[in-house]
Amino acid sequence: MKILGIETSCDETSVAVVEDGVTVLHCATATSMNLHAATGGIIPENAARKQIEYMIPVLEEALSQVFPNESFTESIKKHIDAIAVTAGPGLIGSLLVGVETAKVIARVFEKPIIVVNHVVAHQYANWLSNEVPTFPALSLVVSGGHTDLVLLKNHTEYQYLGGTRDDAAGEAFDKCARLLSLPYPGGPSLSKAANTFLEKNPTVSLTLFPRGLSHEDSFDMSFSGLKTAVARYVTREEKIDVEEISAEIQEAIVDALIIKVAKAIRHYEVRSILLSGGVSANARLRQKLEVAVSEHPTKPKLFMPLTTHATDNAAMIASCAFFIQNYQPIEQVRPNPALEIMDLQAVHE
Ligand code: KG4
Ligand code: ZN
Repeated sequence: MKILGIETSCDETSVAVVEDGVTVLHCATATSMNLHAATGGIIPENAARKQIEYMIPVLEEALSQVFPNESFTESIKKHIDAIAVTAGPGLIGSLLVGVETAKVIARVFEKPIIVVNHVVAHQYANWLSNEVPTFPALSLVVSGGHTDLVLLKNHTEYQYLGGTRDDAAGEAFDKCARLLSLPYPGGPSLSKAANTFLEKNPTVSLTLFPRGLSHEDSFDMSFSGLKTAVARYVTREEKIDVEEISAEIQEAIVDALIIKVAKAIRHYEVRSILLSGGVSANARLRQKLEVAVSEHPTKPKLFMPLTTHATDNAAMIASCAFFIQNYQPIEQVRPNPALEIMDLQAVHE
């Protein structure tokens, strides 16, 4: 089954064709990131305008790569079995572009439409490599807007274990990077500075900033205290070593995540551990998660997405659609900027 996936929840415009949920035939992505670098952050209206500009070229690019000898029309008509689209969470203007495009294609070519939750879909980046996860699985989704720790019993039954009570992990990276005047996007910039410091000081102990809620007996996390501590530090100190402070910040965020994942591995017997979301591109997080998982006696299998599938892309949307098969009548498909990971069942109804 070939699914055409469309992702436009934020500043990436992405279209992919994925076969049977696991084989990416092509994923074309355009980003308006450079535009947001000039403003130091995303202005939703600007992101939405770029979605409109990129949507059709990206769609054409994806289809022509997979079906080089067919016209646009023929390739959809003959080869595509269903259209998958991100309905939320995300920026309403950006989401609308993808959702309306999907609805038009579905209507014109009489194809079924599958509605996908963007945060749920991030996890499916782990189904796009050679080996696929088995259930039950413990999943940590860490993106710019979400930080969720979830127990997956199967593709549609979830148990929410915990998550951030305030800022998301990616947001913490971005906000702290801004406090250090590092360029947008903050997460990759801060992590680059941090890793430069770590290369020079591989055995240094990094304990300057708080690991939010690490002593609380729950699976929840908190990152707003870190942001405040960094803001105070930056105002107080006359001279700042940006690379060293970046390493301190990165370590505080990574540790706060790892502490709760390690606690969940001890509580629940799982066969797979899944990492996903934009922050899963972070090398330090990957390295420390590998250690934490390998230290556990039952040695669950750790899945981490290829970095190309870590940040927003349509391949994960098409993969998720294949496994959840959440078909909806076209007239009921609409964007929902506030969808949460646990709204999966609600989306099904
Ligand atoms: O999943 P994603 O692409 O978009 C959302 O759904 O939010 O995640 C974007 C987030 C941003 O906060 C970005 O700074 C962060 O992922 N990010 C990173 C790295 N690459 C992206 N954070 C830390 N280290 C990285 N290497
Ligand atoms: Zn995302």
